[in-house]
Amino acid sequence: MSASPSLASALAGRSCAEARAATAFAPANIALVKYWGKREARLNLPRTGSLSLSLGTLGTTTSVEPAAQDSLALGGEPVDPASGFAKRLWAFVDEAAPGRPPLAVATENTIPTAAGLASSASGFAALVLALDRAFGWRLPRAALSVLARQGSGSACRSLWRGFVAWRAGTRDDGLDSHGEPLEARWPELRIGLLLADTGPKAVGSREAMNHTVATSPLYAAWPAAVEGHLREIRSAIAAQDVHHLGRVAEASALTMHATMLAADPAVVYWRPESVRLIHEVRRLREDGLPVYLTMDAGPNLKLLYEAASEPAVQSAFPGLTPVDPWSGPEPGED
Ligand code: PMV
Repeated sequence: MSASPSLASALAGRSCAEARAATAFAPANIALVKYWGKREARLNLPRTGSLSLSLGTLGTTTSVEPAAQDSLALGGEPVDPASGFAKRLWAFVDEAAPGRPPLAVATENTIPTAAGLASSASGFAALVLALDRAFGWRLPRAALSVLARQGSGSACRSLWRGFVAWRAGTRDDGLDSHGEPLEARWPELRIGLLLADTGPKAVGSREAMNHTVATSPLYAAWPAAVEGHLREIRSAIAAQDVHHLGRVAEASALTMHATMLAADPAVVYWRPESVRLIHEVRRLREDGLPVYLTMDAGPNLKLLYEAASEPAVQSAFPGLTPVDPWSGPEPGED
């Protein structure tokens, strides 16, 4: 029997009448095989599966408590209720917890701003984990992943440590489209965050994704490419083969950017520094250093390598923020 009917009843049965104070942490995640394109926009249902690695201690901690009226703080500062961030968050809370009492929500990112990483994935994941505790739902993790997905697609992968697969699912209600942790651990694997540009993003990932699906002639090739990448990355993880993993992750990211470059008008996230860094990674590899790159909807790079290569990678890229994906708490812990 599929898990979906029980998820449906778990989600339908949640009580939102009374809340107590609760706090939860969720890590950010980086897709090794990218999610790029939706089959349904309102529920964030993807065209294809994807597979990510969570970022250990880097993520978001969110607290929720009952209050006289709704309020939102980010990094200790009150957030203007008219801001896009506040509107998106409260619209999500209203949908996740219908009929709820007023709440004070306080959220902190443990990702250094200088790492240039978006925090919406860990943000929505930490929020659903905090809501689950605040209302005493005790929902299965897969149900929390379904809720988080509705806030931001990639958030459904931030409910677990380590490698997480997001199966596209086939249901119209999206109950079979959620994250699923892989059992495999790879304690030597590292991710390094490498900033190429600190300026504001020209186009958000949601808009770039929809625009690419609608206008890029190369998008037609994307779903089949992802199927191959997913098969390959699973076998690279099983074999703990950093060359294989790196080649597939790099191909997924560059293929995704190729679909954007062919959109009309093109979406070009790369800055001159991004291109310089891409060449530098390739040069180091030609010199024998096993280091690979991935990129998301932005100009920055994430490097993939093993712990033994870290000193060499750091000396080649002094601005690197190295991350041990296997450190940090279980998502949902304070
Ligand atoms: O879920 P969103 O809207 O943050 O989109 C994520 C898109 C990428 O980061 C580019 C790829 C991915 O799988 O995370």
